[in-house]
Amino acid sequence: MVAVGITVPFLLLLPFLFFASADNSSPSIIIVGAGFSGISAAKTLSDAGLKNFIILEGTGRIGGRICKVPFAGIYVEKGANWVEGVNGKQINPIWTMAESLHLRRFYSDYDNLSSNTYKQGGGLYDSPEVSEMIDVADSVNGANEKLSASLPSNGRGDISILAAQRLQNHVPSTPVDMAIDYYNFDYEFAEPPRVTSLQNTEPLPTFANFGEDVYFVADQRGYESVVHHVAHQFLETDKVGTIVDHRLRLNQVVRKITYSATGVAVETEDGGVYKADYVLVSVSLGVLQSKLIEFVPMLPQWKIVAIYEFDMAIYTKIFLKFPSSFWPTGNGTQFFLYASERRGYYTIWQHFEKEYPGANVLLVTVTDDESKRIEQQPDSKTKAEAMEVLREMFGNHIPEATDIFVPRWWSDRLYRGTFSNWPIGVDRYEYDQIRAPVGRVYFTGEHTSEHYNGYVHGAFLSGIDSAKIMINCIKRGLCKYMVKAKD
Ligand SMILES: Cc1cc2nc3c(=O)[nH]c(=O)nc-3n(C[C@H](O)[C@H](O)[C@H](O)COP(=O)(O)OP(=O)(O)OC[C@H]3O[C@@H](n4cnc5c(N)ncnc54)[C@H](O)[C@@H]3O)c2cc1C
Ligand SMILES: *[C@@H]1O[C@H](CO)[C@@H](O)[C@H](O)[C@H]1NC(C)=O
Ligand SMILES: *[C@@H]1O[C@H](CO)[C@@H](O)[C@H](O)[C@H]1NC(C)=O
Repeated sequence: MVAVGITVPFLLLLPFLFFASADNSSPSIIIVGAGFSGISAAKTLSDAGLKNFIILEGTGRIGGRICKVPFAGIYVEKGANWVEGVNGKQINPIWTMAESLHLRRFYSDYDNLSSNTYKQGGGLYDSPEVSEMIDVADSVNGANEKLSASLPSNGRGDISILAAQRLQNHVPSTPVDMAIDYYNFDYEFAEPPRVTSLQNTEPLPTFANFGEDVYFVADQRGYESVVHHVAHQFLETDKVGTIVDHRLRLNQVVRKITYSATGVAVETEDGGVYKADYVLVSVSLGVLQSKLIEFVPMLPQWKIVAIYEFDMAIYTKIFLKFPSSFWPTGNGTQFFLYASERRGYYTIWQHFEKEYPGANVLLVTVTDDESKRIEQQPDSKTKAEAMEVLREMFGNHIPEATDIFVPRWWSDRLYRGTFSNWPIGVDRYEYDQIRAPVGRVYFTGEHTSEHYNGYVHGAFLSGIDSAKIMINCIKRGLCKYMVKAKD
């Protein structure tokens, strides 16, 4: 994996060249991206004796969408925050890591939402009234799960969650019904029921296999500790635990991947060219859908269709800091809803009495079109909107937020969204094509996870799965990866 094959005029422009350690006994592999899937894949390759790899990462860190940021004197999570799928039949591998690292984590209790749902004009809704609406929504969801199970397995009978709701005469349209619906679907999938596939989300394998519970990680080492935990098992570190392995190359943005029957060449933004036998691409679905990386030759039609048909959703966690708290605290108050006539308008709020004591921080979550709108306006505007909503809920006397943090995952060219969501119109066969290799180009990432797309555990497990597909080719000559069509 030596930086060669550069045309001479181009070479003259290069400030320096990259050389990987020459280890001719083992095939060379380039991994694009050092998020959880890229790190997990590299570890799997390493464990199989395939250690002649380099990892090219566009940012200056590992972890990707698991990322802590300083805010209000503490660290909060800009990306993934929960271990989702806990206390079920199978053990979520991320839960095992969280336990062994003693990550500070808190059970998220949403059972009392009915007592914490605010009216647009101010004041709380009557709890029994909201309770009943939640019960109705739950029974509609239960019936929809049965309907989903009865659909043909080839996916041709799939419908949207909204269509399934219509079949049951339940189309949420009042502010409270919309807030509950938003909590049930958009808050999980970051896209509305109109878009989301019924067959592939109800029931959701994450909750069906690993359990219904979710735990919020609030650890000053960051949720990204799980990625470091895996990285430290195979990358060289110094005495204080900093990764010093020469195979990890940070701040390398890949712009071009050329592939043939005999090898691959990967070009980075600063003009470096790396040659290798194989490449494993772990960038997000949003990045694959953008033009950031050019594939030469163009990826085949079946692959392009699979990539562009699936959805990259946007989930925006807005943190607000206050000089003092003014919201109800105590058991059963952590999550509260603002039921606006505008669906998804600053609907879901969370306080951190236990997680970040004394920080006086609130989190409000927006998604999809609201996320896009908010990413494009100044934070001062977003803060003013959030303050107005809070004043409607709690009155005019509340203090002004002193600080706001608005992540911009959608605008970021290295992400282009937050996680994938399964839309109607994509069957299992087409979804599995996203994972399928194209010659010597392999793919991994949460959007390739067989059962857990959109999640941290999906990213981790997909790295293992994709590495195994590559190992099968390298070690056993089984290089034809066939996706089976269901009939
Ligand atoms: C706001 C938000 C909230 C979430 N909440 C949860 C949650 O609570 N629970 C949960 O389980 N999951 C959650 N997720 C999903 C979870 O974070 C992801 O599924 C997972 O982290 C994705 O890992 P990955 O390795 O597939 O992709 P990434 O983490 O995106 O890794 C890909 C890496 O590739 C790099 N890269 C991109 N383009 C290039 C390029 N051209 N050249 C070089 N490098 C490149 C990126 O910088 C990145 O480091 C959330 C995600 C977000 C963003
Ligand atoms: C709050 O919940 C915790 C944990 O479930 C419990 O130990 C505690 O007694 C509760 N506090 C009150 C005031 O009910
Ligand atoms: C539910 O929320 C209300 C309003 O915030 C609170 O007064 C009540 O104690 C909570 N109930 C439980 C069981 O936690």
